[in-house]
Amino acid sequence: MSRKEEVVYLSSELVPRSSVAISPFDHGFLYGYGVFDTLRTYGGRFFRLNAHLGRLFASLDILGLTCPLNAEGIQDALYETIRANGLEEARVRLTVSAGEGEAAPEPLPTTPTVLITARPLTPIADSAYQKGYSAVIGGPLTNTASPLCGVKSCSYTGFLLARHRARGAGVQESLLLNEKGHLTEGSFTNLFLVKDGTLITSDLASGPLPGITRGAVLELAWVLGVVVEERPIDPSELAAADEAFLTNSVLEVMPLTQANGRPVGGGGPGRITKSLMAAYKDAVRRETARSETAT
Ligand SMILES: Cc1ncc(COP(=O)(O)O)c(C=O)c1O
Repeated sequence: MSRKEEVVYLSSELVPRSSVAISPFDHGFLYGYGVFDTLRTYGGRFFRLNAHLGRLFASLDILGLTCPLNAEGIQDALYETIRANGLEEARVRLTVSAGEGEAAPEPLPTTPTVLITARPLTPIADSAYQKGYSAVIGGPLTNTASPLCGVKSCSYTGFLLARHRARGAGVQESLLLNEKGHLTEGSFTNLFLVKDGTLITSDLASGPLPGITRGAVLELAWVLGVVVEERPIDPSELAAADEAFLTNSVLEVMPLTQANGRPVGGGGPGRITKSLMAAYKDAVRRETARSETAT
């Protein structure tokens, strides 16, 4: 059976994947100069799209890049791409790189490249959520003084190395420390702990990415009446936690049930974790329902 070829959005055009041509002098490729975002669609709608775009534009600003499309233009391009690929449940990657320049750091390129790919979402088995993920602690340090700290920049090698470290240890995630020795986040997730009924996550000054799922979970926790603390986290707090979980836009809320080979809390998804998993799913259902403008 022949499948329709995947279509990619590249700087204002939808192009069959086999014809995509990105310049060998794109500074995104040469220097990792650019930003990206990973989004998930539900029934053809994005969840918290405005928040994703807000983070993208804030990151572009920090890197001194001006996107050729405004937020509305990007939104249209995202929807065009999923529709052109006939996808309802998709994993979508949006990249805005610095664009084509010289094979040298200067002069700065003038027109950023906008690239969007959309692929069928590979669902994560329910059994994974029931069991929870395991993590190791360590890997490249988060440097809170770096201009890239908290920016979802294309210079992602440190996070990839941390992820490889997790794979090498036979677990799903690697938890990162900053230069002060505080736990910041995972290599592709934000980290939450629960202790004595209080939900704790690293404050943004400690260096985690301001995850969109993190933001939604913090909001939902307030609604559920869970006390929230955003503050530096000492690694010893993970060993002493009653519960822990990880968040990202594709994974949603994933219990973290083992760290460094030891069970976290009771070694299974905790009570507050489960209520936030359910509350997140409800929020997604509500906000991506067909009758609403899902932005
Ligand atoms: C390092 C890192 N932290 C946190 C997250 C979670 O971000 P979001 O909830 O916006 O997907 C990601 C997402 O990929 C990430 O790469």
